[in-house]
Amino acid sequence: MDSPWIPPRVPSVRLHGFPASPFPALGPAPLPPPFPPRPRPRSPQAAPPRRGRGPGAAMAAPVPDAAAVRARAPVRDAASASSAGPWSLLHLHLDLRVSFAAAGAGRLQGRARLELRCERDGAGGAELRLDAHPALAVSRAALLPPPGGPGDAAGQTLPVESRPFASYGSALHITLPQAPRAGQLLTLVIDYEAGEGPGVCWLSPEQTAGKQKPYMYTQGQAVLNRSFFPCFDTPSVKFTYSATVKVPEGFTAVMSATSWEKQKDNTFVFKMSQPIPSYLIALVVGDIVSADVGPRSRVWAEPCLIEAAKKEYDGVIEEFLVVGEKLFGPYVWGRYDILFMPPSFPFGGMENPCLTFVTPCLLAGDRSLADVIIHEISHSWFGNLVTNASWGEFWLNEGFTMYAQRRISTEVYGLPYTCLEAATGRALLRQHMDATGEDHPLNKLRVVIEPGINPDDTYNETPYEKGYCFVSYLAHLVGNQSKFDAFLQAYVNRFKFQSITADDTLGFFLEYFPELKEKGVDSIPGFEFDRWLNTPGWPPYLPDLSPGQQLMRPAEELAELWAADSLNMEAIEAVDIMGWRTYQLVYFLDQILQKSPLPEGNVKRLSKMYPKISKAQNAELRLRWCQIVLKNNLEAEYSKVKDFLHSQGKQKYTLPLYRAMWGGSEAARALAMETFSATAPQLHVNVQNYVKKILGLAEA
Ligand code: BES
Ligand code: ZN
Repeated sequence: MDSPWIPPRVPSVRLHGFPASPFPALGPAPLPPPFPPRPRPRSPQAAPPRRGRGPGAAMAAPVPDAAAVRARAPVRDAASASSAGPWSLLHLHLDLRVSFAAAGAGRLQGRARLELRCERDGAGGAELRLDAHPALAVSRAALLPPPGGPGDAAGQTLPVESRPFASYGSALHITLPQAPRAGQLLTLVIDYEAGEGPGVCWLSPEQTAGKQKPYMYTQGQAVLNRSFFPCFDTPSVKFTYSATVKVPEGFTAVMSATSWEKQKDNTFVFKMSQPIPSYLIALVVGDIVSADVGPRSRVWAEPCLIEAAKKEYDGVIEEFLVVGEKLFGPYVWGRYDILFMPPSFPFGGMENPCLTFVTPCLLAGDRSLADVIIHEISHSWFGNLVTNASWGEFWLNEGFTMYAQRRISTEVYGLPYTCLEAATGRALLRQHMDATGEDHPLNKLRVVIEPGINPDDTYNETPYEKGYCFVSYLAHLVGNQSKFDAFLQAYVNRFKFQSITADDTLGFFLEYFPELKEKGVDSIPGFEFDRWLNTPGWPPYLPDLSPGQQLMRPAEELAELWAADSLNMEAIEAVDIMGWRTYQLVYFLDQILQKSPLPEGNVKRLSKMYPKISKAQNAELRLRWCQIVLKNNLEAEYSKVKDFLHSQGKQKYTLPLYRAMWGGSEAARALAMETFSATAPQLHVNVQNYVKKILGLAEA
């Protein structure tokens, strides 16, 4: 019983019930339902009762007993193998040692210490289950004696076994000496080594910007951190964490933590003092340096990028934070720093608390891609403070964040610009629904994630842009922006540090606006809350983006001109796009793409006429240009597709281009194969696998 037990490396299992593809194409798209009648604005007398003290209290709506909320059991999460239900995880401490080996590999040895409290008698018997991964080799689990109490300081070794759970993780079964009683505190330590799992990425020097030293980073969302450390890997569980990370000489470690301290022996010490879900724990070890860009913000990057990073964001971050605080309440995380990742980072941004990770593509030179930063800052309230309890409710994180992003953007950049940006978002939703069919089950806000389905495979535009439409619809029901802003602030205040479901959100909305509840706004035919959540399809309500018309109209008109059979060059030349902002050009290119293929020769001429577009360095423009090149089969510019895919590995850029190539000509398919075989090793393993599916190189 007492001997250390090393679990076998479990091969990843395929469970039955996997869909043929994460996005099976379904039938033709039905027409969107008609625009809703505008409900009467609520009467001023019907304002919610005001209670409480302190900042934002004037806005606060009546809240149920907070203790009752804190005690509620975690929501069942089909994507977690863990037995989180009866437990509170009070604190997690990670003791890590990172070393680099040759050729982009490395070693992460860890000890995780979980401080647990049993909340319910008898539940789960004497077994505790944690999420883990076949790549996580556990060498020992032990129960530590209570602090100051008798017992061996090394702890009592416990039987531990790794069992298959899903393609994306395994279950670590730990047998406790006896079934714990409610209120009992347990401290568990687990010694392990993290191998080549999807959550821990090892980059060779060639894969970094500086090409001098290796690099490692972790990416937790959605279910990848179980290959970084054993835990309750579910967003329904929140806990504080701390870490010590020993790294080789010449490297720096940073984490998503409130405090950061370098001690002797190249050991870095971190502490996150607010409870967060496991997916927000993140670590980078690399040759990185920092520069201040605001009173509570600095940028981190490899030395060769730090000047550009500082120039891009110096003096702008604070304004975003201040506007966010004005709208949504206090920023609780202390610092807000930004880390520019190596080019293969698969996301535009990842909202790791205190330290957002971003793609280096954001270094556009003209601050034109700051909307990504505003988005990640918005997660400080929506996602990081109020969190979706399961990945089926992901729209609560992303839909509210899109709404918050556009509220901040409206305050900072004005309504026309924000509506233009939102129109490009709507175009992405249109493209997604056209590609999958509107009735696709993933085109619901509340997604049913069956056991065995990897939540990351459900990722698409719906939670973002349909979620944005639903939150906009709620605002439209309220009929007054400042009242809705006050609601958002009260919502954050009500559910901060908790994990919730849409039922909590909508219940609170109706409680906060009792007169809307009385009117039955949750069941207006065609716009039922239930329909929003559970019916796939185009949003029944679209927010009015017409304030962006002044920016959109010229782009639409110019696109019309370029789509004509015989080009009216005089009219085209009369339009000066040199003064257009990046998103106006993006919008123009989306229009061109929609109308493509254009009549023979037009795209070639367009390319020549606008080097600002066809030779752009801005990643959003490059993506659209490459899509246009492919849709118009402009072989002369295929090299641009190849260069773009060699230069970065963001999933949202990479997958659409491979889909376009694979759906194109023989030459386009050959380009796809050639490009993938050259770039595959530098892509994140998840992105690699999605590309393989697109190219028919892996089972769909
Ligand atoms: N949290 C997401 C990124 C993410 C989602 C990672 C799901 C893993 C699984 C992040 O906040 C995000 O939405 N990033 C966007 C930014 C954009 C919407 C402005 C991105 O990466 O494109
Ligand atoms: Zn997001």
